[in-house]
Amino acid sequence: MIGAPEIRPRTPEVVRDRDALSAIRDRMPGPVAVVMTMGALHDGHAALLRQARARAASVIATIFVNPLQFGPAEDLGRYPRTLPADLDVCAREQVDLVFAPTVEAMYPTGQPEVRVQPGPRGEILEGAFRPGFFSGVLTVVSKLLHLTRPDVTFFGEKDYQQLMMVRQMVTDLSMDVEVVGVPIVREPDGLALSSRNAYLSADERKVALALSAALKAGVRAGSAGGDAVLAAARKVLADVSTVDVDYCELTDPALGPPPQSGPARLLIAAKVGSTRLIDNMAVTLGPER
Ligand code: PAF
Repeated sequence: MIGAPEIRPRTPEVVRDRDALSAIRDRMPGPVAVVMTMGALHDGHAALLRQARARAASVIATIFVNPLQFGPAEDLGRYPRTLPADLDVCAREQVDLVFAPTVEAMYPTGQPEVRVQPGPRGEILEGAFRPGFFSGVLTVVSKLLHLTRPDVTFFGEKDYQQLMMVRQMVTDLSMDVEVVGVPIVREPDGLALSSRNAYLSADERKVALALSAALKAGVRAGSAGGDAVLAAARKVLADVSTVDVDYCELTDPALGPPPQSGPARLLIAAKVGSTRLIDNMAVTLGPER
């Protein structure tokens, strides 16, 4: 009997500077996929890498904690850095090349003067609470696209606004790459996987379930319309006094104003202790057809 092909871990090449990346990239068979990460890889990243592997002849993973996207009061210093474990994940997911540059390799002249300007949709939601965040993200994504020259790139829907902003940048700046969104991976109890979950104590982890519970309550209220969705989600959050909500908002799938009926997106950001978490779900508004 012919079974499923055996998946063998493949030790990826690891490079830390741009010249080494470029030399290997030149010899890579296409199509080439890139998955950009800040490390601390979990099953959500593995899902991105798996989709990349299924689509492309060559897979590059980038691992770089990008200082440009952290505000002065944010967690750049304590962001988890777990390169050996990350390389194991990359080997399991059959990544061909890991680009894990130093800050100096990415920003050889220091903080870049020229940066990508995210535009109005970068000012709402995350952008309103994290000034400069999307400019930092889009600047590094743009640089990594130039350096890795992929045909296709994969971004998680967990960072939904980021995915939308990357799509917009690729369209507006005529970048020749396909952007694929990958659904959120959740723990069995609903918690969306995130590198920042590592900061949560056992008690905080229980509290953090309020985010996915609020989203599910909102989704269930979808047939009654947008106001009902927001009321249901906000009630779940309000009932958990230890969740400090930054926003719980409903938009259309492209982050514009929510429609009366049809597809929409419910997005939440909240702090649990000192950890800021984000999550979102698709919602269908209006009577079921
Ligand atoms: O989603 C992330 O991990 C980061 O924002 C990204 C896209 C790797 C850019 O630093």
